[in-house]
Amino acid sequence: MDDVFEWKDDFVTGNQQIDNEHKQLFQQVNELYDMFSDTKKYHKQISEKVINLKTVLIKHLYEENELFEKYNISEKEAHLKAHDEIIKTINDLENYNLSSLIVALLLCDVIINYFLEHFPKYDKKYIPELNEKMSIKH
Ligand SMILES: [Fe+2]
Ligand SMILES: [Fe+2]
Repeated sequence: MDDVFEWKDDFVTGNQQIDNEHKQLFQQVNELYDMFSDTKKYHKQISEKVINLKTVLIKHLYEENELFEKYNISEKEAHLKAHDEIIKTINDLENYNLSSLIVALLLCDVIINYFLEHFPKYDKKYIPELNEKMSIKH
């Protein structure tokens, strides 16, 4: 099956670690979307995938946070705050009595928004500075 969400060259930052994690997020959202084609059949896998996807996303955001701190990236405060909001949105999904399918769809939405809105606004901007600082420090 074709991917619903297509990876674009625009998403490449040139930072290997970050690119790999972003690609992994993309791949997992697509895998989750494929399972929506038969929610009865894939019911269990969808729940498992949601747990996994949440873990991958939160881990990624914390890794970015650590990089901002380690390399003292400028304007990191706004980016950290944006990450906090995403993490809160994800954690909040558990506070409502939503069906697992709705949670899965909302999670996909959070990740797609990450690439369409958060990525160009934040990620794309700090990467050149990060890459430069990383190459100096290594
Ligand atoms: Fe990111
Ligand atoms: Fe980010």
